[in-house]
Amino acid sequence: MLEEVVATRYVTPLREGGSLPGIVEADDLGTYVMKFTGAGQGRKTLVAEVICGQLGRRLGLRVPELVTIQLDPVIGLGEPDQEVQELLKASGGLNLGMDYLPGSIGFDPLAYEMDPVEAGRVVWFDALINNVDRSWRNPNMLVWHGEPWLIDHGATMIWHHNWPGAQASAAKPYDASDHVLATYGPDVAAAAAELAPRVTEELLTEVTADVPDEWLVDEPGFDAPDAVRRAYVEALLPRAATIHERVTVGERTERKPSQAPGWLTDHLTPWPHTTGQGEHSKQKDSGE
Ligand SMILES: Nc1ncnc2c1ncn2[C@@H]1O[C@H](COP(=O)(O)OP(=O)(O)OP(=O)(O)O)[C@@H](O)[C@H]1O
Ligand SMILES: [Mg+2]
Repeated sequence: MLEEVVATRYVTPLREGGSLPGIVEADDLGTYVMKFTGAGQGRKTLVAEVICGQLGRRLGLRVPELVTIQLDPVIGLGEPDQEVQELLKASGGLNLGMDYLPGSIGFDPLAYEMDPVEAGRVVWFDALINNVDRSWRNPNMLVWHGEPWLIDHGATMIWHHNWPGAQASAAKPYDASDHVLATYGPDVAAAAAELAPRVTEELLTEVTADVPDEWLVDEPGFDAPDAVRRAYVEALLPRAATIHERVTVGERTERKPSQAPGWLTDHLTPWPHTTGQGEHSKQKDSGE
């Protein structure tokens, strides 16, 4: 079970997040990024955050600690933004909290070095959970105290949107061409050799047990929360054993635009990291 805390103050919305997560303080004196059950993306987003976040942590990847947060919407009464008010009103009860990393900055592949082994661990993990949301457009990684942290596992495990087809869906390949770490030469085979044997039925049973019952009840086709948990285990367990054989880390499907001005990027490590070619030479080569 995740630790449960009670929200004591709504601090501010995080507008860069599509689901409008908010920063809250809680009765354990912690500060959390709160993801709301009342958000349009639905409770499956929160289930995915718990299963993937806990799995990542158990595999030794850096994912901020997760808690559940009891929310009394009354704490947001002073919040002037109507959208926030409505989100809070729709989210009374249990929500998800992620330890807030103060002073963290968004991961920028132009400015951060990572060795192929570490990059391989992240790409393999994202392949396992079928994460489509760690691209160079939206890295969903933060750098905190000089180290990369993985956040936002809400858009993963697509199979949980159609359980009858889950086995077939979980058997599908993973295209990592647009992954934010694709250019670091991720050693996916080494990561699989290290991590796949650790993804056991026991581990998956433990991480799925961390999902609160109330986010699993009344799932169509299942008679109890434990049956839904079992379905997650049955999708992830076989995928862990073989997904490294079905990961594509090819050329990016689109040319990566530089976020930073040329006078700055010219002084940074050339991109892509694996070939030593710079962004500018890549543009010239492709004749654009
Ligand atoms: N633990 C954290 N510590 C500090 N900042 C965070 C943390 N988690 C999220 N953030 C900030 O909040 C933003 C939104 O978070 P997140 O990506 O999890 O939300 P989302 O609504 O799922 O977003 P998306 O639009 O990517 O679907 C992040 O880009 C980051 O800037
Ligand atoms: Mg995000």
